[in-house]
Amino acid sequence: MDGRFYYIMTFGCQMNEHDSEIMAGLLEQMGYRETTKRAEASIILINTCSIRENADKRFFGTLGQLKRLKKENSDLIVAVCGCMMQQEHIIETIKKKYGWVDIIFGTHNIHTLPELINRVINDRQRIIDVWEEHRGVFEGLPSKRLYPFKAFVNITFGCNNFCTYCIVPYTRGRERSRKPEDILAEVKRLAEDGVKEITLLGQNVNSYGIADGFEKDFTDLIYEINKIDGIERIRFMTSHPKDISDKLIKAFGECEKLAAHIHLPVQSGSTRVLTRMNRHYTREDYLEAVRKLKEVTDGNIAITTDVIVGFPGETEEDFEETLSLFEQVKYDSAFTFLYSIRKGTPAEKFEDQIPETVKHERFNRLRNVLDVGMAEINKAYEGRIEKVLVEGRSARNKSTLTGRTSSMKIVNFEGKPDLIGRIVPVKITEGKTYSLFGEVCDEV
Ligand code: 5AD
Ligand code: SF4
Repeated sequence: MDGRFYYIMTFGCQMNEHDSEIMAGLLEQMGYRETTKRAEASIILINTCSIRENADKRFFGTLGQLKRLKKENSDLIVAVCGCMMQQEHIIETIKKKYGWVDIIFGTHNIHTLPELINRVINDRQRIIDVWEEHRGVFEGLPSKRLYPFKAFVNITFGCNNFCTYCIVPYTRGRERSRKPEDILAEVKRLAEDGVKEITLLGQNVNSYGIADGFEKDFTDLIYEINKIDGIERIRFMTSHPKDISDKLIKAFGECEKLAAHIHLPVQSGSTRVLTRMNRHYTREDYLEAVRKLKEVTDGNIAITTDVIVGFPGETEEDFEETLSLFEQVKYDSAFTFLYSIRKGTPAEKFEDQIPETVKHERFNRLRNVLDVGMAEINKAYEGRIEKVLVEGRSARNKSTLTGRTSSMKIVNFEGKPDLIGRIVPVKITEGKTYSLFGEVCDEV
């Protein structure tokens, strides 16, 4: 099978990134090798996301660009998958306007990719195989990791929360958890393979095991992983504030391998809006969780969030509550979203949609508050010595290395490439709004 290459384009969240790692693993098992040149590929795979604004437009734009390659190379297989394929109207458009796409599959059956490819090669027919729902959890899938020293591990799939703006429960199905023994076996294997940092993935890791009636909850899982030799850092995402337990908060004070960072999407600072979003917590509940997290860690925890500006019916007063919450929490970073309609979600039908100009104006005000807070936090790092997991060379300046602190901060510093993959002490010399700069030093 010499000379057969695959090219994967991935949009969206870390769960999608990890699905792509698994699909790359499956393709390599079939004898394909990765290429960074589309024109060289025998298989082009687009792993889509429906959460971002204008995702459809961007996807169809990308797909349109592939038509020429498909014309030039009739053996080229174009496959599309991911969240978008779980939506009826998208599949209809592909069928109507992009009839040359060979394989359409969804989020529940990525493990069937080799079979789908073989069917196309043998029958030269278009295949649409989108499973409406999961049929169990699939174990033992290979994965081609982006980094040798850090890995993502799925612990839950799907979501049961039905926030009124969100498409995920419809595209990723009901929540189900992998068995603790399967997760622990995978983490042990990864540790033996040299992985130092793992990130446990799920739409809402805090409700791990509950819907499946497991005895072990999410925090128990963390304590178990904390015992695995070789693993030096444990991260997880995402946490739903309604399900964050005191037990988990306590773990931040006790588990030495648990990274000093939590991603805790707030979405809005107004309880009225949170209720309309179906979030099941109040502004006060959220602030109380943050207070406790800071208390058990003596303030040594980075908090990041997701926030939506301009949700239907959001008044100036509601928005000001989001601003004041940001001032109070002082986030280390945030993904800030302008609300936009997702077809098929309850909020699509909400009447009081906010004009775009108002959304943008609020968005800019929020970014300003966020940036001021981030600059202040990062400035306070100056002079500190941080343990940095060195990830690679900086994209901007090849002679600079880049890595992350336990608190997820990006640190740039001069150093030899043999440091890549190691955890090294770095003295922070400068804290800018979006990243830190430093020098490798001796441990104190
Ligand atoms: N509009 C804007 N942002 C959204 N998100 C999810 N759905 C929407 C939407 N319809 C954001 C939420 C979520 C993040 C992954 O994407 O903040 O936490
Ligand atoms: Fe979407 Fe809410 Fe589920 Fe997160 S918790 S994936 S925002 S429905």
